[in-house]
Amino acid sequence: MLQDLLMITHTEEQITARVRELAAEINRDYEGKNPLFIGVLKGAYIFMAELCKNVTIPCEMAFISASSYKGTQTSGTVSANTDKLPDLTGRHVVLVEDILDTGLTLSHICKVLSSCGTASLEICSLMDKPSRRKTELTGKYVGFEIPDAFIVGYGLDYNEKYRNLPCVGILKPEIYEK
Ligand code: IMP
Repeated sequence: MLQDLLMITHTEEQITARVRELAAEINRDYEGKNPLFIGVLKGAYIFMAELCKNVTIPCEMAFISASSYKGTQTSGTVSANTDKLPDLTGRHVVLVEDILDTGLTLSHICKVLSSCGTASLEICSLMDKPSRRKTELTGKYVGFEIPDAFIVGYGLDYNEKYRNLPCVGILKPEIYEK
């Protein structure tokens, strides 16, 4: 799989160190608030696990599924499955995402979740491509800002592959141009 990468942009060690810093910020900001972390499936599952391992305050976890991507292109339409979420009334929610790209997915999810009476709602994203944003959305906790390139690994996929790479890297264009 590594041979399909043009280059590794973030090693496992770099990611782990940054995730620990994000968790430390969250530990400070959410002390006494019993935050509910909602991971956006499937991309955020590894990040969510690593983040929550380093969160030392009482908290709860849930997952939501959303999809908008086919291959390397966003379809523009977002669907989110909120059926399995607990009651969000009065909850301090941290939405955990793999990457903020156009922001369309999370802005849709944020609208749905805020309508459920959350006390607060913040975004924690491992990666952020601000140059691609089509919404006002910003992440309060962001691991790494990156330029506009299609990356895979650490939960991020291309057609469901490469999620299990422990690092993050840019996919060789010939892989998706095939
Ligand atoms: P947005 O709605 O455009 O912000 O897209 C968010 C979703 O698109 C992410 O949760 C990813 O699943 C997917 N995505 C965006 N950029 C990439 C990328 O570079 N690699 C893999 N998936 C990506």
